[in-house]
Amino acid sequence: MKKSLGKHVWDAIGIPFRMVLFPDDWSSRLGFTSLEEERISAVLPHIHGKLLDIGAGRNTLVKRYANGVGVDVHDWGGDVLVVKDSANLPFSDEAFGTVTFVACLNHIPNRIAVLKEAWRVLQPEGRLIITMINPVLGEIGHRIWWYGEDKKRDTEPGEVAGLWTRDIVRMCEQAGFKLVEHERFLYSLNNLYLAVKPNENGSLEFRSPHISLSNQTVPTD
Ligand SMILES: C[S@@+](CC[C@H](N)C(=O)[O-])C[C@H]1O[C@@H](n2cnc3c(N)ncnc32)[C@H](O)[C@@H]1O
Repeated sequence: MKKSLGKHVWDAIGIPFRMVLFPDDWSSRLGFTSLEEERISAVLPHIHGKLLDIGAGRNTLVKRYANGVGVDVHDWGGDVLVVKDSANLPFSDEAFGTVTFVACLNHIPNRIAVLKEAWRVLQPEGRLIITMINPVLGEIGHRIWWYGEDKKRDTEPGEVAGLWTRDIVRMCEQAGFKLVEHERFLYSLNNLYLAVKPNENGSLEFRSPHISLSNQTVPTD
């Protein structure tokens, strides 16, 4: 959803509160755009077909898109399907048009196995969308976000604070995806990566107003 000028100004005034001090529900109550809302606004325009949201948290993205299912290994409310291991999902091959990992790939210890599982359940030419902050920002953020979900559960070995672009590129390639777009959002502090599962010929018949296939080079950090 496009923000009005007034909303942009209010959000800029609210930067220290909505990005550092306040949990998302406090931000929303004060009329600021919450960090979760910022992520959803960045991701929604890229989704097509049936959605699988892995690490879905409160399942807000699935509810907003209204065609899909959210899975998580923890139950934060919101009717997600709670699974033991996201690398072993109860869905048939090629069941989804889009798989999203919003602010969660760093929290998933077996992330390459889970990306391979995303590949299995995606249709050919299906989309993989990842949002992720870099490890430096993540390290600082996770120290000060007193309200973060990671403070309400045990953390697992293999969880990290954030991921570099070069790590995302490498993991996507290892799982069989082709990365077609990298864009920044939230004052360039957050990243959105869009990758595609090639069809059986290995080609990408992929068309989107958001993607330029002639420009597939993804800068690495
Ligand atoms: C920072 S929250 C992001 C939640 C939501 N995607 C959002 O944007 O608000 C990270 C999420 O990853 C989930 N998570 C942690 N380990 C996971 C795993 N192995 N598989 C799937 N999700 C996992 C957590 O339970 C949590 O919901």
